Amino acid sequence: MEKNSITIIQPDDWHIHLREGSITKLVIQDTYSVFGRALVMPNLDKPIFKPREAIEYRNFLNGLIPKSSNFSPIMTLYLNENITRDDIKIISSSENFGGIKYYPKGVTTNSSKGVTDYKSFFRIFELMEKYNVTLQIHGEVSDKSVDEFDREKVFIDKVLSDIVRQFPQLKIVLEHITSRHAVEFIKNASSNLSATITAHHLLYERNDMLSYGLKPHLYCKPILKRNSDMIALSNVALSGHKKFFLGSDSAPHLIGDKQSDCGCAGVYSAKYLIEILVQFFDNNNSLSNFEKFVSKNGANFYDVSFNKKKLFLERSRIKIPNFIGNEEMKIIPMMAGEFINWTSKLVE
Ligand code: NCD
Ligand code: ZN
Repeated sequence: MEKNSITIIQPDDWHIHLREGSITKLVIQDTYSVFGRALVMPNLDKPIFKPREAIEYRNFLNGLIPKSSNFSPIMTLYLNENITRDDIKIISSSENFGGIKYYPKGVTTNSSKGVTDYKSFFRIFELMEKYNVTLQIHGEVSDKSVDEFDREKVFIDKVLSDIVRQFPQLKIVLEHITSRHAVEFIKNASSNLSATITAHHLLYERNDMLSYGLKPHLYCKPILKRNSDMIALSNVALSGHKKFFLGSDSAPHLIGDKQSDCGCAGVYSAKYLIEILVQFFDNNNSLSNFEKFVSKNGANFYDVSFNKKKLFLERSRIKIPNFIGNEEMKIIPMMAGEFINWTSKLVE
């Protein structure tokens, strides 16, 4: 029988961009009003290189979260050569830290300080393996000679496979996976490897972005792939497989930076994210696995307890706004202007 409501453990978002300054004030409520935790990406204009900077940034975020909210921002450092053993020990021992994020140089927004030679980070990977600190990876090569649509595959085959061989116990999350190849790689890897999946990679394929007029608000990194890739991602998310969990990669950019001669990559999916996802699981007769994907698998992988609150979701029609913000600061959310058939409410 069709269910009209479900109650799940409060979900977490294991990959999000909250930015800095006034844009943060605009977007953070879409996350703290639903999620218990979110892993906050460090690719700010001035990247978060050191634990002290992460703590300052976390304090800034906490200043924007109402006291009534239990939301906890979890920090990750931008992988860089100055990370020390002491930094890794701090990350390892604090619940407020979730790991270290690997950006290949030049691959995406604010990645100019990223990695060129991954082998030069083996000293850090070794320490991370020893202290059980997770490496979150943006899994794409930025090599000009590699076709945009093959960049994830080439990264997995050339770089990630080597890191896994050298550091077999290192905990790794391959972030925002986009391809069947990535799904198979993670499925076949050992239990210390897992992957996050975004809502937009579950709902859209590259034709949606390119074939019926250019849709800049679906342009993101790693880029949307083919239909068969979207199906592979959908199948594994809907199955509740324990190695795959939600990391929205919600990445707000102002409308002028998206609709421009050189548009920024990033989809703002945080608005009604959980409602969009429950509708997706419902439409695919997989509501029974929804809680695994959004609330349990990630917490289990990161070895943290489930959130204490519950989220009540019920069938009720709502419209996603055409934009958020105002004329000066406008962001177009994913599925802007469309209707969805679910709403949510946190309960104790
Ligand atoms: C992200 C951003 O804008 O910060 N953009 C994106 O397309 N996903 C960076 C990232 O995660 O690649
Ligand atoms: Zn991201």
